[in-house]
Amino acid sequence: MRIAVCPGSFDPVTYGHLDIIDRASRLFDKVIVLVSYNPGKSSAFFTLEERVDMIKTVTKHLENVEVDSNDGLLADYLKRTNADAIIKGLRAVSDFEYEFQMALANKKLYSGAETVFLTTSSENMYLSSSVVKQIASLGGDITGLVPDEIRDTIKNRLYLSK
Ligand code: PNS
Repeated sequence: MRIAVCPGSFDPVTYGHLDIIDRASRLFDKVIVLVSYNPGKSSAFFTLEERVDMIKTVTKHLENVEVDSNDGLLADYLKRTNADAIIKGLRAVSDFEYEFQMALANKKLYSGAETVFLTTSSENMYLSSSVVKQIASLGGDITGLVPDEIRDTIKNRLYLSK
């Protein structure tokens, strides 16, 4: 049983993330989407529970995908779950340096898992959770950026919080 973990902040999940999750689910027997704490980012806009719920909603058609959360080291989670791989999406060369450093740090902490980079689909190259939040908070249309089932939740939370 080959297990991959797809870690990220997912604040919120976008079509870019979903594309990577979907492709990872074809490569591995089980994919765990792991809502994780990123110490390098200021606190998330959506709560952990909201982020987990949104991912569950948009991945319910993928039978081998599970959703979990972790507020510690990714390496410890990989070890606990006996995972074989970390899946990361790369959008541009600018993502690479940071992701390469993370991959080496994770390998040093836990050598049992490999980091596998998937290149983002070209139509999602500009897409990020920050872009979605900025557009939604200013009343813009986020159709096509996030799955329809979670569009209104994101729109309402961001627009009303202004
Ligand atoms: O979506 P993001 O914010 O780019 O994802 C980054 C994330 C959450 C995957 C990364 O910050 C992470 O792995 N956090 C857990 C803590 C950890 O293990 N850090 C790596 C070792 S230095």
